[in-house]
Amino acid sequence: MRAACLLTLVLAPFAVYPARVFRTLSHLKPQESDEVQTVAVRDLLVRLLGDRAGSFLVTVNSSLAGNDRLETYTLSSEPGGKVAVTGSSGVAAATGSYTYLKTYCGCHISWSGIQMELPSVLPPVLSPLTVTTPNRFRYYQNVCTSSYSFVWWNWTRWEKEIDWMALHGINMPLAFTGQEAIWYKVYLSLGLSESEMSDFFTGPAFLAWGRMGNIHTWGGPLSSVWMEKQLSLQLKILKRMRSLGMITVLPAFAGHIPQGILRVYPKVKVTNLGPWSNFNCTYSCSYLLDPEDPLFQKIGGLFVTEMIKLYGTDHIYNADTFNEMSPTSSDPAYLSAVSGAIFKSMATVDPGAIWLIQGWLFINSPLFWQPAQIKALLHGAPIGRIIVLDLFAETVPIYLKTESFYGQPFIWCMLHNFGGNHGLFGNVVGVNWGPFKALKFPNSTMVGTGLTPEGIEQNDMIYELMNEIGWSSTPINLTAWISNYSDRRYGQNNADARAAWQILLRSVYNCTQIWHHHNHSPLVRRPSLNMNTEICYNSSDIFEAWRLMHNASPSLGNSSTFLYDLVDITREALQQLVTDYYFEIKVAYGKGDLQQVMTAGGVLVYDLLLELDRLLSSQPQFLLGSWLKAAQSMASTKEEAILYDMNARNQITLWGPNGNILDYANKQFGGLIQDYYTERWGLFVWFLVQNLIKGEHFHQDKFNTAVFVLEQDFIYNGKEYKSSPVGDTLETEKRIYLKYFPHSGKSRKAKKNLYMKL
Ligand SMILES: *[C@@H]1O[C@H](CO)[C@@H](O)[C@H](O)[C@H]1NC(C)=O
Ligand SMILES: *[C@@H]1O[C@H](CO)[C@@H](O)[C@H](O)[C@H]1NC(C)=O
Ligand SMILES: *[C@@H]1O[C@H](CO)[C@@H](O)[C@H](O)[C@H]1NC(C)=O
Ligand SMILES: *[C@@H]1O[C@H](CO)[C@@H](O)[C@H](O)[C@H]1NC(C)=O
Ligand SMILES: *[C@@H]1O[C@H](CO)[C@@H](O)[C@H](O)[C@H]1NC(C)=O
Ligand SMILES: *[C@@H]1O[C@H](CO)[C@@H](O)[C@H](O)[C@H]1NC(C)=O
Ligand SMILES: *[C@@H]1O[C@H](CO)[C@@H](O)[C@H](O)[C@H]1NC(C)=O
Ligand SMILES: *[C@@H]1O[C@H](CO)[C@@H](O)[C@H](O)[C@H]1NC(C)=O
Ligand SMILES: *[C@@H]1O[C@H](CO)[C@@H](O)[C@H](O)[C@H]1NC(C)=O
Repeated sequence: MRAACLLTLVLAPFAVYPARVFRTLSHLKPQESDEVQTVAVRDLLVRLLGDRAGSFLVTVNSSLAGNDRLETYTLSSEPGGKVAVTGSSGVAAATGSYTYLKTYCGCHISWSGIQMELPSVLPPVLSPLTVTTPNRFRYYQNVCTSSYSFVWWNWTRWEKEIDWMALHGINMPLAFTGQEAIWYKVYLSLGLSESEMSDFFTGPAFLAWGRMGNIHTWGGPLSSVWMEKQLSLQLKILKRMRSLGMITVLPAFAGHIPQGILRVYPKVKVTNLGPWSNFNCTYSCSYLLDPEDPLFQKIGGLFVTEMIKLYGTDHIYNADTFNEMSPTSSDPAYLSAVSGAIFKSMATVDPGAIWLIQGWLFINSPLFWQPAQIKALLHGAPIGRIIVLDLFAETVPIYLKTESFYGQPFIWCMLHNFGGNHGLFGNVVGVNWGPFKALKFPNSTMVGTGLTPEGIEQNDMIYELMNEIGWSSTPINLTAWISNYSDRRYGQNNADARAAWQILLRSVYNCTQIWHHHNHSPLVRRPSLNMNTEICYNSSDIFEAWRLMHNASPSLGNSSTFLYDLVDITREALQQLVTDYYFEIKVAYGKGDLQQVMTAGGVLVYDLLLELDRLLSSQPQFLLGSWLKAAQSMASTKEEAILYDMNARNQITLWGPNGNILDYANKQFGGLIQDYYTERWGLFVWFLVQNLIKGEHFHQDKFNTAVFVLEQDFIYNGKEYKSSPVGDTLETEKRIYLKYFPHSGKSRKAKKNLYMKL
């Protein structure tokens, strides 16, 4: 069945979408000359390989792409042990270089680290290789990534990310940095005051939701220094992206306006969008300008004009008007008029404008967005002038239910992660088969693949897989692929590590439900007596993966990527142990067994969580201190440093003044476990113990009130956290393993000793 399916996929023509759709997108292409792109890729290889970059002969030749514009690279060997890489764009040449490094040299490049042991002589390319991607576009970013991950980034970090994009074949990144400076200028020119604007903008860590009209003011004010700095950062980002041949997606006007507009234009037609996500109107209830009001074209036009003056354009713009907020009318005529007006505000300024829409609204509000409503919205602009991101297609593909978005082109995207949580999960089967099914769909309008995680720097494996799929013409043999992945990531073939990855592949990475794409572990949630502890795999799998990684540590302990994974997989196992202890505590409490509540609670609060904190603190990627230091380093005054510190801490914990979106963007950082999660669990156990002693019931409300004080204390504790690792990862992991690995004789003995001590 599967083999037959594979065969038809192989034989399927690439460009299955209608020619007219294709033609409207033909101007979306690299702007820079082949020469500029060639230099950009050579520079990238120097950053990556130093002197060894000289062994690569890189050329960009755009005619390699052919009439269908599908990007292509070729690899061959040249005399003198050199490797020739020719790409139809900078991105194609960078992708070809990384493919060579992977398949011929066993190298690996990821967010958490690189493995770049090059053989002293580059292996020859035995027969020249030509690879063409079936996807016109490989898109990257969610509008939320700019807040959950990029918010505190400087140019050093951005440069690294853009290199990562190019090497992994991404040619269409969102470029959302530095837009507030333009909004500010536009609104002041319309007569708004500085204080009206400072009431409007959120703080840096919440800009994504300010831009979408979900909230305003919270975490602000945003200083003019911040806006100017972001503007110069954006200039560098765009220049580098374009020099590599990427097509950058800029913002456009979606209709959300500051309240000050109502003062300057009292007769303007607006809708109040009402409260969003447990916020009240102090920070929510933004105004949406009626797209049919003439002011809409004025603001939209001014914004796009100003932006193009500063940033240039690649003719594609993102605007999301109804993200998690339903329109006031479901009348199809109204919805078409709305999207027509939004599109017009771009197209009047840039006749070649293409409007990129995140398809999240269709997933988030399926009751509102019935076929007639979706069709009306998408048909408000001519066919081929909207590209929809099928945002969470590995799990909830929308093209299936909408006759391929009623003829508008779409990009098949893997969302994978909500809120940038740590936690091992993913849907490898959806990723591996989904894009090919979508291309084969009757009258498919798919024009690319993409990555749309809300937050990055987690689960490297599934992003590596998705990026490869973007350049692949067939699904990949996952069993074979994961062994290769393990070998490259650690720089050697290690049987235990391979076995661990095989287990992860079929357990944590084979989860298909929406629920599983967000970390709901009791560890990172406010405690209660009815917490959801469901996971999508057999928990013994994560312990077995841990055991295998533990066994691999004597051989792989010098590899930085291994140490990261050892910590990450141990972290996942300990997270499961927290669930197990939670059960023990809950059951004992139900039986009125005070002693058992105290012992199990004691192990959890006084040992397990603190050991997890120590483990995380031993690796640079898991430090609260780094997140906070990056935030503070963006500040230009002491007051700003305090505000950014609050922004950074609030986003990953309370998310709002009152815990409005509590723990949505939870992280497992050294420092955070100790001073936030452990404090909570300590109070919970204390409540239960007091209840049992006094013969009272547990009142969640009382607990919530008390725990909120601790949660706020964490945000304002003013404590400095280490931004470089402390302690030896291997030693710490070993100690924890001996104490806690389930069902081992030693583990039981150690736990018994621990109980005795407590
Ligand atoms: C680019 O490729 C085309 C077609 O393969 C070839 O004719 C042309 O000479 C190449 N240009 C350069 C500068 O190498
Ligand atoms: C709205 O939320 C703010 C911030 O938490 C709070 O100060 C205010 O009292 C709330 N207003 C109402 C009407 O509940
Ligand atoms: C595909 O498009 C053709 C031509 O427009 C149409 O006749 C056919 O019904 C469509 N097929 C499906 C399955 O929608
Ligand atoms: C996938 O690769 C594995 C390991 O190399 C091999 O045993 C298996 O037969 C392959 N599966 C298919 C469908 O080719
Ligand atoms: C795994 O690596 C081997 C050796 O480089 C290669 O032949 C094979 O195609 C790779 N398989 C996959 C699925 O990547
Ligand atoms: C994922 O799970 C499905 C069924 O739940 C199974 O058929 C499939 O083989 C699994 N895939 C992997 C890669 O383990
Ligand atoms: C989980 O895996 C273990 C070990 O392989 C096995 O003994 C147990 O029956 C499995 N549990 C379930 C619910 O499948
Ligand atoms: C790790 O590096 C140290 C110091 O270079 C070396 O002594 C040790 O043998 C290495 N261990 C492994 C397993 O390669
Ligand atoms: C950029 O940020 C990183 C991480 O916060 C920091 O280590 C680095 O020193 C910064 N670089 C510059 C040039 O400020």
